[in-house]
Amino acid sequence: MADTDGVQETHDYHLDTPMKNEPFHLKGCNALDWGMKNRLGNIFDARSGRTVMLAVDHGYFMGPTTGLERIDINIVPLLEHADTLMCTRGILRSSIPPTFNQGVVLRASGGPSILKELSNEEIAVSMEDGIRLNVAAMAVQVFIGGEFETRSVHNMTRLVDAGNRYGIPVLGVTAVGKELVRDAKYMRLATRICAELGATYVKTYYVAEGFESVAASCPVPIVIAGGKKLPEPEALTMAYRAVQEGASGVDMGRNIFQSEAPTAMIRAVRAVVHDGLRPAEAMDLFNTLKNQK
Ligand code: 5RP
Repeated sequence: MADTDGVQETHDYHLDTPMKNEPFHLKGCNALDWGMKNRLGNIFDARSGRTVMLAVDHGYFMGPTTGLERIDINIVPLLEHADTLMCTRGILRSSIPPTFNQGVVLRASGGPSILKELSNEEIAVSMEDGIRLNVAAMAVQVFIGGEFETRSVHNMTRLVDAGNRYGIPVLGVTAVGKELVRDAKYMRLATRICAELGATYVKTYYVAEGFESVAASCPVPIVIAGGKKLPEPEALTMAYRAVQEGASGVDMGRNIFQSEAPTAMIRAVRAVVHDGLRPAEAMDLFNTLKNQK
């Protein structure tokens, strides 16, 4: 029965308090729809505005990469420390517990292995399957300057169109071919192209000279890849500089899962990204956590 008493003029409408109208916590994202923002909120922490994405998608072209031979043993214990997991649908379905509640960023491009021309990728996962897997975003490689540059850009724009239809963010991943120079000029070009063509956020590499200009000229959030394994102090310094110079976090793989103490490392990276710990303090934390075993 309808509650007719409940519509009497006895409610408090708080007429002296304007409704809150707070901006979203990510740059360039205010105009996105609710579902898109909600998914981004499952990647980027609302308090810090940043993310620690754990990248374990390397197998899609590299096979069983060192540290990823057994996802169930090496990676699942790290999940509780990651804001987001970046992986393939094969690993997600086979090896990640469906109770994992943080964001999943699904690798959506693929094709060539390390034995072939890497820029020759295609879209390898449908948006429908991403929705079925309840992902927070889809990730696609973009090879600016690569042999199949236009194809890879087209992969991204098709995915962006599909993502916009359903409210799924798209992460444009700038992939730098071996023949290209990894400098700020290249990163500005690659990240800006991804953003201009609709990527919701962009992943790139940190460059020691001029990263601020890369972050500043990209109108959507940037996260940095970790790249090849570095000594822990260097990896923590890179993460620190990146976020201080405008990155909205890291999408780090090998520098975490190939570390001598992966759990200590991801926790130290978190402290840098979310709490602004300086590299030396983060190294102290790493050593303390490492020795707790
Ligand atoms: C592979 C990727 C990886 O996710 C990315 O390289 C991050 O991993 P790492 O920190 O090991 O570089 O996009 O193409």
